[in-house]
Amino acid sequence: MSRPTVGVALLGLGTVGQGVWKHLTAQRGDLEARLGVRLDIRGVAVRRRARARGVKVPSRLLTTDARRLVDDPRSGVIIELIGGVTVARTLVLRALRAGKTVITANKALLCEHGPEVLAAAKAGGGRLFLEGSVGGGIPIVKTLREGLVANRFDLIVGIVNGTSNYILTRMGEDGLSFDAALEEARRKGYAEADPSLDVDGVDAWHKAAILGFLAHGKWAPRSRALVEGIRKVSPADIGFARKFGYTLKHLAVVRRDLRAGWMSVGVYPALVPSGDILAKVSGVNNGITLRGDVVGVTTLAGPGAGADATASAVLGDLADALLEIRGGARPGADLHALAKAGRSVPMAPEEAIVSPFYLRLTLKDTHGVLAGIYRTFARHKVSIARVVQYEHPDTGTGTLTLSTYPGNERDMARVVAELARLRTVLEPPTLLRIFAP
Ligand SMILES: NC(=O)c1ccc[n+]([C@@H]2O[C@H](COP(=O)([O-])OP(=O)(O)OC[C@H]3O[C@@H](n4cnc5c(N)ncnc54)[C@H](OP(=O)(O)O)[C@@H]3O)[C@@H](O)[C@H]2O)c1
Repeated sequence: MSRPTVGVALLGLGTVGQGVWKHLTAQRGDLEARLGVRLDIRGVAVRRRARARGVKVPSRLLTTDARRLVDDPRSGVIIELIGGVTVARTLVLRALRAGKTVITANKALLCEHGPEVLAAAKAGGGRLFLEGSVGGGIPIVKTLREGLVANRFDLIVGIVNGTSNYILTRMGEDGLSFDAALEEARRKGYAEADPSLDVDGVDAWHKAAILGFLAHGKWAPRSRALVEGIRKVSPADIGFARKFGYTLKHLAVVRRDLRAGWMSVGVYPALVPSGDILAKVSGVNNGITLRGDVVGVTTLAGPGAGADATASAVLGDLADALLEIRGGARPGADLHALAKAGRSVPMAPEEAIVSPFYLRLTLKDTHGVLAGIYRTFARHKVSIARVVQYEHPDTGTGTLTLSTYPGNERDMARVVAELARLRTVLEPPTLLRIFAP
């Protein structure tokens, strides 16, 4: 039987695009044989044809006209690796409306325009694959849509930004300052020249929103999410964490109250018990723990970003797309059905989001200073679990670090606002969450 030919267009030949090109061309024969198709690479769109690259693409395939590739009637599969929410959005919507299959690693686009992208797919009959958008090489999208599809998840918690994890690992294990660790991450190519997407939690937020959608069918609005990066974490916090059996990690947390129905999504630095498997996910790796009502607790860990890991995810999507085109099989939860089911899911009220907290205060070293602090906690009914005090006699100041019993975000925000107004509190308090599964 002759194999059908499927036209594939690659949009973008940057970090990920080059990885996809490298592995696609190397594995092409195997992939074609395993999947029973022939691939016809229609072209590769770039912004600058003359740019030096680490892969050799025949010049007849290179084009700066991405739209022509999308409109090519023989391009059945469009792999979008341009990134961002401008050009990429236009091209993805156009391809989906034309009924094409789109494979993307673009978490910003999905997070910010998820409903529009899905509506375009529905209107035009296009298919969407998004494994590369979250978890790097970890097959988390497939796991949620296929392997664990029978589960309802009350907790998904992960380390989903490799750059932040690298910085925190270097600060925690090797005593580097935030600036030195960031500079090193830049030198090694893990952080962009402008690292704010990573260190301010935006990239992790994009991924958390995708996880929330895949698990619960709802795109959490940013206005209802706690989004914090790692800039405020200091070596003092890491030291305190270690002393009490915790490791500082930047987490994406998606919770669902299976009885009340609400979900919450947040990304923030948190103290993770050092025995937890996520505390051991170090460097640029990612790790995601899922707690499902059927399977129990499952953790996936592996390379979280970079050309090869993301190419692995994109090519996994390509294999699924080709199988679907060839045989019509559509494995896994349908994204449109998921979105329909998620319409009625409410976001959690602030008082329902509960955790123990960690707080660091810089204080004036005077008589009675602690009494004022304890009174503030008592007023808002947040109970202190542990206090450690360091004095700095040379400056007449002290550092107080404390942890609390579980309290809710609303009460704790009030405590912090009130403490910040005390004359004896010299700097804005540092508030971190303590992760409690
Ligand atoms: N880097 C990672 O580790 C990673 C991991 C997971 C997901 N992702 C996602 O994957 C996507 C790509 O990331 P990346 O790191 O590979 O980005 P990148 O290195 O900046 O590459 C972007 C590519 O898009 C091309 N491009 C830009 N504007 C274009 C236009 N108007 N028409 C045609 N081509 C255009 C650029 O062309 P030139 O080369 O000519 O400039 C470049 O080849 C993003 O959505 C990102 O969030 C990245």
